[in-house]
Parts: sequence; structure tokens; C-alpha cells
Amino acid sequence: SKKIILDLDTGIDDTLALAYVLASPEAELIGITGTYGNVTVAQGVQNDLDLLELFGYPDIPVYAGPTHPLASDSFEVLDSSGEFHGKNGTGDVEIPAKAAGSVQEQNAVDFIIESVRQYGDELVIVPTGASTTMAAVLRKAPDIENKIHIVMMGGALTQPGNSTIFAEANVLQDPEATKELFSSSADITMIGLDVTTKVRMSRQDNEQLRATGTRIGTFMADMIDFYIEVSERYDSIPGCNLHDPLAAAVALDSSLVTTFPINLTVDLEDGRGRTIGDPARLLDAPNTKVALAVDGEHFVPGFLSRLMWLAISA
Ligand code: BDR
Ligand code: CA
Repeated sequence: SKKIILDLDTGIDDTLALAYVLASPEAELIGITGTYGNVTVAQGVQNDLDLLELFGYPDIPVYAGPTHPLASDSFEVLDSSGEFHGKNGTGDVEIPAKAAGSVQEQNAVDFIIESVRQYGDELVIVPTGASTTMAAVLRKAPDIENKIHIVMMGGALTQPGNSTIFAEANVLQDPEATKELFSSSADITMIGLDVTTKVRMSRQDNEQLRATGTRIGTFMADMIDFYIEVSERYDSIPGCNLHDPLAAAVALDSSLVTTFPINLTVDLEDGRGRTIGDPARLLDAPNTKVALAVDGEHFVPGFLSRLMWLAISA
């Protein structure tokens, strides 16, 4: 099995990524690290703890990461994040479980460094929020750079952004951090809007999940209803995107996407947060594999059946 660390800003689709990994027999989730974005780190890690309790995995450790971008000393949740994910991150649906335990004393950065040293190539880290935690890892332990494997949700190469016309939300949270990540020698697969906007969950899919009738199934279906509601208002097409779950799925099965090796950087100027294939170094010095095509017909039904399995078995 593959060892996984999820670096979440939990978040509706982050919650779904967590559910997917827990329902995947080929994955061993060794820990969750909490970043910011959809919610603050404090809210996110509380969500993670309560979700692990709900899903029946209360012993998986949760670590808090950096609470704000590298280049600033504070972070405030954007109104648009609240609109998409609710004030509490789970679409204002209360998680029907309360964790007994609390967040680990060790911080996220040290936990990741220790895990990379321990597991090397067996470990994949899946950031689905701001890139700050991973940038902090690279700054603190440059010697492990080329042992790090990352499948990240973020960016947009062939599409406009979703936070600004240029930038995808996760990269825009901390563009300096994402840029540092890309320029490192870590092994990075970018799961951006290029592919995540092609994998959508429909209301019918969600009704199947609801029909499980369990506490977990009902909670997830209520939360997804909230997400579909707001997504349909913005996208004017039915259903919602499965951003973060796709990144988690690719970490377990890279054949779900077709990637293109490219030298990527992040605009820190006028198009702040835009992921750009550096035109001067387009192919000579690839630093990132960008997913440009996805096998959605394989992924979406597999995603749904794993969630249903979790709903009835936990
Ligand atoms: C990303 O931004 C967040 O709102 C989602 O959780 C996802 O990680 C999509 O751009
Ligand atoms: Ca996210």
C-alpha cells in the first residue's frame, strides 16, 4: 500500500478527498496536516479531527501547519471561500461526531520532514490548500528535496483561474510558496483546473450517496448539496467539481491522468498566482508534471462507489 499525507484546508472537497483515501484499500493515511484557505488552520484541524471520528479512524494523527502565507503575517478567510464551503468549511452542515483527542504537539512541517526521511519513495504528500506547508518543509530541510513526492491540487495552465481570471484559489493563497515548490527538485504532479473541472459530481450521484441512509452518507450528501447549489450558481452547468478528490486519487493511481512535463513558475506580478509554463524554458528543464487529460469515466464512478462503501461500512 502507499503511504499518504493529506495537507488539507478542510473544506468540502477536502473532506471528500479524505473520505476517498480512507475508503481506498491501497492507501495508508499516516497523518493529516492542516493548512489554511477555505478555513483557518484552527478550524481546519478541528474539522479533520471530527471527520476522522465520524469516519471511524480516530487514531490517525492531525498536525497543524503554518497559519498564514510566507510573505505576510496573517490570514483571513475570503468571503468567496465562505460562500463555497460555508463558515465552518463543511457547508454549514455540522459534522455529526466530536473528536475526543486533539491536534498533535509536533507541527506539520516537522512531521512531514520526519515522514519523508522515514518512508522516502513509499510516501506521497497531497496538498489541497495553500502551498505554505510544503515550502516551509523545503526551507527547513533542503537535503530531502529530491526524496519528496507531491501530487497537489492547484493551478491552471490551459484555463482561466477560479479566484481571479489568472489564478486558481490554492495557488493564490501563497503564490511565493507555490513558486518555491515548483523551483525545487521535488517530484511534483500538478492537478489543476485543467483536469479538476472535467470531473463533476451530479445531483443524481449525490442522491445515491444519500440513499445509503447512514449517518455518514446523510452528512456527506447534505454537505455536497450545499456545494452543488453554490457551484451551479457560479458555473451555470449542473453538479460540482471534484477538485481535491482527484488529486488524492491520482496519488494512488497515476494512470487516471495524462501528464505533460513542463517548466512551471508562478506569476508574482500583474497576474499574481497564475501558473505559467515558462516560455523560455518550456521543455528543456521540466520541474513539474501537469495533468492535462483525465479519465473521468473511470474516476467519477470509482469515487462514488468508494464514498458509498465508507458510508455503509464505518
Ligand atoms: C481548490 O480551492 C479550494 O476552494 C478547494 O478546496 C480546492 O482545493 C479549488 O480551486
Ligand atoms: Ca482544498
